[in-house]
Amino acid sequence: VGVIMDVNAEILLAEPRGFCAGVDRAIEIVERALAKFGAPIYVRHEIVHNTYVVNDLKAKGAIFIEELDDVPPGATLVFSAHGVSRAVQREAERRGFQIFDATCPLVTKVHVEVAKLHKEGYEFIMIGHKGHPEVEGTMGQLDSGIHLVEDEADVARVRLAQSEKLAVVTQTTLSVDDAAGILAAVKARFPQVREPKQQDICYATQNRQDAVKVLSGQVDVLVVVGSPTSSNSNRLREVAHKRGVAAYMVDNADELQADWFEGKARVGLTAGASAPEILVQQVIERIKALGAVAVRKMDGVEETVKFPLPKGLKV
Ligand code: F3S
Repeated sequence: VGVIMDVNAEILLAEPRGFCAGVDRAIEIVERALAKFGAPIYVRHEIVHNTYVVNDLKAKGAIFIEELDDVPPGATLVFSAHGVSRAVQREAERRGFQIFDATCPLVTKVHVEVAKLHKEGYEFIMIGHKGHPEVEGTMGQLDSGIHLVEDEADVARVRLAQSEKLAVVTQTTLSVDDAAGILAAVKARFPQVREPKQQDICYATQNRQDAVKVLSGQVDVLVVVGSPTSSNSNRLREVAHKRGVAAYMVDNADELQADWFEGKARVGLTAGASAPEILVQQVIERIKALGAVAVRKMDGVEETVKFPLPKGLKV
């Protein structure tokens, strides 16, 4: 196609990349529900933020909805990996649906922490992205008392109802570095703040960002496989971009543009936690067609996390 990559051009594959344990579990919940109860299975919101995964499940009989009004009586309903508010949970129960909760256990952990500290009288600052379903779900664990901050400027604007008991929680898929900066601003303004015992940013987000940091020092260009709605995928692109590496996010191989690779010798490749490996393999084939002659896997931490399926869907 006229694009000339370096004659020895190679692809460096990030390790780890792609599916996390929460995404694996969420997809398996929908697939098992389909196998056990038959189509259609209703899913509130995209089960995970990936176009390929959603289309694949649609073809198998899943129906994705945003409003419970669109679910018929007696239906089986799955909550997405991002979690739901108490109001959505209660309303779904009131309507009598058969519910399977695919909320990632690491998101549920944050919900449980919020409920527990709320009982002890805490008010909260949540670091997260406005409008993201996980943020809506976590903020919706309480009727009020959670202040959302997206950046340092928001921290300066927070008006607390009391100043005795304040805790911080975060979205699980943030940029580790951005979150640390915002947390520092929170601590500077509210020194009494209680931090999460363990960071709320999950192991998968942390590991994928760490891998991109290492890769960024070794590549001329980085490709992230992920959908535009995927928070953690967007952060991976930003991590490389902030280190001065040309970085692009693609939903599939068709979105690759040949001129990104012109004259390049090393192409980094990773995938967000919701992006399936089949898409990574298709991207590899496309970059090979543009001239890459080798694929090399980085060393990286091995992930062994696995979450159990809900009762009623175990084999
Ligand atoms: Fe859960 Fe983190 Fe994946 S919160 S769904 S393990 S990206």
